[in-house]
Amino acid sequence: MKSRILLLLINLASLKADQTPFSKNTADPGHLCCNKLFESLPSKVHLPGSVEYERQQYDYYSLQQAELQPSCRVTPTTSSDVSLIMKTVTTNLCPFAVRSGGHSAWPGSNVQGGVTLDLSQLTIIDIDEKRGTVGLGPGSRWKAVYAAMEQYNLTVVGGRSPNVGVGGFMLGGGISLLSFRRGFGCDNIVNYEIVLADGTILDVNATSHSDLFWALKLGSTNYGIVTRSTTREELQVIIIGGGDEIVSVWHASLDSVPGASLTDTPTIADSTRTTSLLNLVGDLQSSAFVETGRRRTYTLTVKLDAPFLWDVFKHAKDIFDKLEYVSGMHWYLIYQPITKGFPIKSSETGGSPFKVFWKSPMTT
Ligand SMILES: Cc1cc2nc3c(=O)[nH]c(=O)nc-3n(C[C@H](O)[C@H](O)[C@H](O)COP(=O)(O)OP(=O)(O)OC[C@H]3O[C@@H](n4cnc5c(N)ncnc54)[C@H](O)[C@@H]3O)c2cc1C
Ligand SMILES: *[C@@H]1O[C@H](CO)[C@@H](O)[C@H](O)[C@H]1NC(C)=O
Ligand SMILES: *[C@@H]1O[C@H](CO)[C@@H](O)[C@H](O)[C@H]1NC(C)=O
Repeated sequence: MKSRILLLLINLASLKADQTPFSKNTADPGHLCCNKLFESLPSKVHLPGSVEYERQQYDYYSLQQAELQPSCRVTPTTSSDVSLIMKTVTTNLCPFAVRSGGHSAWPGSNVQGGVTLDLSQLTIIDIDEKRGTVGLGPGSRWKAVYAAMEQYNLTVVGGRSPNVGVGGFMLGGGISLLSFRRGFGCDNIVNYEIVLADGTILDVNATSHSDLFWALKLGSTNYGIVTRSTTREELQVIIIGGGDEIVSVWHASLDSVPGASLTDTPTIADSTRTTSLLNLVGDLQSSAFVETGRRRTYTLTVKLDAPFLWDVFKHAKDIFDKLEYVSGMHWYLIYQPITKGFPIKSSETGGSPFKVFWKSPMTT
């Protein structure tokens, strides 16, 4: 959002200053900032055509993101680097985007002709045994976090997909396999370290800047750039799960046939077992999602109502069955229940904007 507003400002400026050299930046509005950043952080600025730029561009979940061409990509390794970059892009009005895991389904973490801050080097996993917390860099992906924590028999309320980044997840609620007991990922945060638009680095928590702390739990990129999320650690849980063919589960869970249960419905493939989070998220990835491609994602949140959800499934199936001949096309319908455990946890830990929307159990 921010980057769009900045882009608009640049266009206005160039209209007024039509004949000045500044107008040449409209074709490549990030150019000025890339040059300035190159002077201060030469080894961290990557230009189109360089190996590192192309590698990072390739590493997006959605093709729509990979197709945007920033004037440069900058890879900060400290919060001070992020602060310097923020000062540069805001004082020079350069459009910019922020990327952690690059797993958004729509173009949200790359920018055409601007500066992309690639946080993939901010990967600290700092376990504080005394406080029972772990500080996570936004660039880590959940598989790395779970692998590091499991060595100590610990885990965190993190993502279900191994490649989702800590950054976007912790600023957008965050639904975990532990959420029914522990609420959203963000409800377990004790502190965000954030770099504001003017470059100020702040610790934001329940006692310091508590309003910002509240807002950040669903704040995405709108308030600043989070350089570390400190979250409560959990004892490692062993959970029952696995990849099962969805359709059979459907009948058991939605038809409400008396006596029907998950265990006596026929399955096509079944890897259900008792295992750790790390293993389970690996399964979910390999069974559930195609890793590269062009995405269209729509979400709707409704009151939990089984007949309605069943209807949605039938309509979707009617539509997509007719498109079966289109090769390479996949469709997914994902029902995410949001049960009453979510708002309870949220209240216990200082609240979040989510509480404003909560009325009764819902499905997204
Ligand atoms: C296959 C798949 C599985 C998923 N599974 C889950 C799941 O189990 N649970 C769940 O809750 N969600 C899930 N999601 C959604 C995912 O959590 C969000 O898309 C999340 O925003 C991705 O974060 P990211 O850092 O990987 O993405 P990015 O594309 O890097 O970032 C997403 C957004 O957050 C902003 N942002 C990222 N980092 C920062 C930062 N440090 N400071 C400020 N702004 C930042 C970006 O600018 C962008 O707008 C899934 C998505 C996919 C595609
Ligand atoms: C983790 O738990 C297992 C099983 O309870 C135990 O055998 C192992 O010693 C524990 N490891 C650590 C590092 O505590
Ligand atoms: C909250 O922020 C203050 C400074 O702003 C810091 O001193 C304190 O340690 C933080 N609390 C936590 C739990 O991180």
